[in-house]
Amino acid sequence: MRLATPSGFASEVFLLERPDGDLLPEGPWTLVGDQRLHEAWTGAGLPVPDHALWVAVPEEEKRLRTVIPWLEHWAGVPLHRDATVVALGGGVLTDLTGLAASLYLRGVAWQVWPTTLLAMADAALGGKTGADLAAGKNLVGAFHPPRRLVACTDFLAGLPERHLQNGRWELIKTALIQGEMTWALDMLQEGPVKIAWVERALAFKAGVVHRDPREAGERRLLNLGHTLGHALEAASGYQLLHGEAVGLGLLGACLLAEDQGLKPFPASLLDPLARRLAPLAPLVAPWRDCLPLLTRDKKALRAAGSTEEAPAIVIHCILPRPNEPAVQRALPPQAWEAPHARLLSLLHQESLRA
Ligand SMILES: NC(=O)c1ccc[n+]([C@@H]2O[C@H](COP(=O)([O-])OP(=O)(O)OC[C@H]3O[C@@H](n4cnc5c(N)ncnc54)[C@H](O)[C@@H]3O)[C@@H](O)[C@H]2O)c1
Repeated sequence: MRLATPSGFASEVFLLERPDGDLLPEGPWTLVGDQRLHEAWTGAGLPVPDHALWVAVPEEEKRLRTVIPWLEHWAGVPLHRDATVVALGGGVLTDLTGLAASLYLRGVAWQVWPTTLLAMADAALGGKTGADLAAGKNLVGAFHPPRRLVACTDFLAGLPERHLQNGRWELIKTALIQGEMTWALDMLQEGPVKIAWVERALAFKAGVVHRDPREAGERRLLNLGHTLGHALEAASGYQLLHGEAVGLGLLGACLLAEDQGLKPFPASLLDPLARRLAPLAPLVAPWRDCLPLLTRDKKALRAAGSTEEAPAIVIHCILPRPNEPAVQRALPPQAWEAPHARLLSLLHQESLRA
């Protein structure tokens, strides 16, 4: 099924069960694929192009050093400007391959075939490519939208359960950005992830990134859960998966919104949220480890009136509201201290109940 996207949208978006080789590039192309998918790819009768790279890239290797050999390999072939690169894998591989495609010959076309739920529901759409630096996640990158996104749910068959649940958090984020409480509660229930949720999340994200491709305004809403989330993810030494950290960040953002005087979320949402997150409590870093990471956040800015003698920073924070769209507020990193403490206490409460 080809999803409806706004007119002039940079990428064609397909959500299918079985992979369809007709959607591969028509002209010259090559592939960067997760080696875990090699069997599923060839087993589905899909062609392996010349000079394909089958790689294993853990989150700790989402670094520029990983893509340099790929670029050298393409230049050695050589791959020309009319070639298309196909990325097959999770968000780490697709972010890096998109970045490499944006750099090679100052930009060649690419397609993205996401193979994790997180990448299907979020990472593959929107044109953000990137790598991590020692100072933090995704601090280097380019906006380089793929020509085509092909999400084939058959590829999810081999995905470990933890990674399947990991993708659910970006879907719940989408519901909370819109204040869609019923949808969020539905996704917090036990039971399998529904493809209709992925479709709905992609349609929403496509609209947002089309209206604000460079994240000058509305697109910032997609960072809901990511401010505290990124700090917790890095502070855990990447023991927390990205989606899990976003899930913790979502609960933190609900609590921060309340602290900031917005309408509080009812226990009917906070309790199931905390229940689902409770097993992650041992991976939640103490506040003293989060604060320095928050002050280095990509969305941090110098506060108005800040001086060399008394530097002050604020972070663009996204605050969700029940039954209403989320709002943006610039807040000092210290504003997260009390929500972080309450988050931990809610998780412990739920762990004791379990
Ligand atoms: N570009 C964006 O807009 C955006 C948005 C959200 C997240 N991200 C990025 O996405 C990354 C996380 O992506 P992820 O959660 O997909 O993790 P991942 O790419 O690390 O993949 C998770 C694991 O699953 C394996 N795998 C992938 N597909 C599989 C399959 N079908 N069957 C079995 N194993 C499979 C991978 O080898 C890896 O070990 C983060 O680096 C995050 O920054 C980017």
